[in-house]
Amino acid sequence: MLENAIFHHVGIAVKSITDTALLYTEAGYRMLPVVYDPIQNVNISFLEKNGSPLLELVEPVDKTSPVYNILKKVGVSAYHFCYEVVSIQDCITALESKDFRLLQEPVPAVAFNNRKICFLYHIDTGLIELLEK
Ligand code: NI
Repeated sequence: MLENAIFHHVGIAVKSITDTALLYTEAGYRMLPVVYDPIQNVNISFLEKNGSPLLELVEPVDKTSPVYNILKKVGVSAYHFCYEVVSIQDCITALESKDFRLLQEPVPAVAFNNRKICFLYHIDTGLIELLEK
């Protein structure tokens, strides 16, 4: 389904970036600056560590933030895998033919220097994010 896609990060819904990041930085991760994404209405910070997958902490700003309900239902949890792709539109078309549902048309993401992202869902994979190269 994603032959040419490269794994990019794991998205984790958190109540507090500060509280969660503290535990990871104590474990050797480096925390990148917190960015507010007005389109998704969330605060985002990445945690990186050599040899480990990149972690994206996503904190709701208020009840309208997309991760608010995830936190309410299951608490702090990993909720998406992100893949980097050359053409986001081609990838959407390919995934839709395999019954992935596009949840959000591609939008520029502040946390990625306005590169486009989108989210798709399949009952057998859960939530997947695409990030255009
Ligand atoms: Ni993400």
